[in-house]
Amino acid sequence: MNPMSICTSSSSGSSSSSHSTTKAWIVHGIVVGAAVAAAIGARAYLGRSTKFRSRVVGIIPARFASSRFQGKPLVPILGKPMIQRTWERAKLAASLDRVAPLGVVVATDDEKIAECCRGFGADVIMTSESCRNGTERCNEALQKLDKKYDIVVNIQGDEPLIEPEIIDGVVKALQAAPDAVFSTAVTSLKPEDAFDTNRVKCVVDNCGYAIYFCRGLIPHNKSGKVNPQFPYLLHLGIQSYDSEFLKIYPELQPTPLQLEEDLEQLKVLENGYKMKVIKVDHEAHGVDTPEDVEKIESFMRERNLS
Ligand SMILES: *[C@@H]1O[C@H](CO)[C@@H](O)[C@H](O)[C@H]1NC(C)=O
Ligand SMILES: *[C@@H]1O[C@H](CO)[C@@H](O)[C@H](O)[C@H]1NC(C)=O
Repeated sequence: MNPMSICTSSSSGSSSSSHSTTKAWIVHGIVVGAAVAAAIGARAYLGRSTKFRSRVVGIIPARFASSRFQGKPLVPILGKPMIQRTWERAKLAASLDRVAPLGVVVATDDEKIAECCRGFGADVIMTSESCRNGTERCNEALQKLDKKYDIVVNIQGDEPLIEPEIIDGVVKALQAAPDAVFSTAVTSLKPEDAFDTNRVKCVVDNCGYAIYFCRGLIPHNKSGKVNPQFPYLLHLGIQSYDSEFLKIYPELQPTPLQLEEDLEQLKVLENGYKMKVIKVDHEAHGVDTPEDVEKIESFMRERNLS
């Protein structure tokens, strides 16, 4: 049997795996066995439903108070509130549940944000101020929704230029990988961002599962410099979760690597869960600071985006 066949999904598998030792490949075989078992189990569990994890909701968590950028979701980007831009993009994603009533919801603890969002037609779920971060806010919103969902997409409100295709991509990735509980997206890292600790780097295995996320440059060349030949990956602020996993995710204790890197998603990997990663083209940066607003506005002007 060809060792390459262990990758069941669309992988960018390099030929290097054909050199792997027998031992490494048996371990891989077990992983695949587990994936197949999980897929069969999932199908049996779903019964009538044809597609695995078919009910999908997009949640845009938004809070007013922010240490770095007060009132960030409402900041105008070329005259339109940032959260409205994110919402309008998200509404175009084909994978989000179109069956009434909800496909995309804003989850917030702030009345000003809620009012603004209702004003442009968004559905809003009020969440408590005690949510420590976006993941917890998504989880609380999920519990408050009447309908049941299989997948929750956490669409960060500070990505006003998020492509709907990226949302659809992470959803499809999670639907196609029953052994994963989480999916996310990466894009090519620009060399100037290599040593910027706000830009999170990612490495993946041959099947497109995340191996690690890091604020430092990974992999790290012997020379200590950026290797212009290497396709480094930048993590994007979009993630989708299996809704059952989302319920336990906030309860999992913080893990050492998560705490040291200050990266929430590491807790998933450190607890042994699998995370599927897709690679996409995405040029625009998210908005972290007031300075980023100017950057994104000039980016949009250059491309005639309104
Ligand atoms: C490191 O980067 C250099 C280019 O800067 C490249 O030639 C080399 O192949 C890379 N890898 C190693 C192991 O040195
Ligand atoms: C953010 O949420 C995750 C998962 O819900 C939780 O484990 C983590 O501790 C939270 N981070 C902070 C800084 O509170």
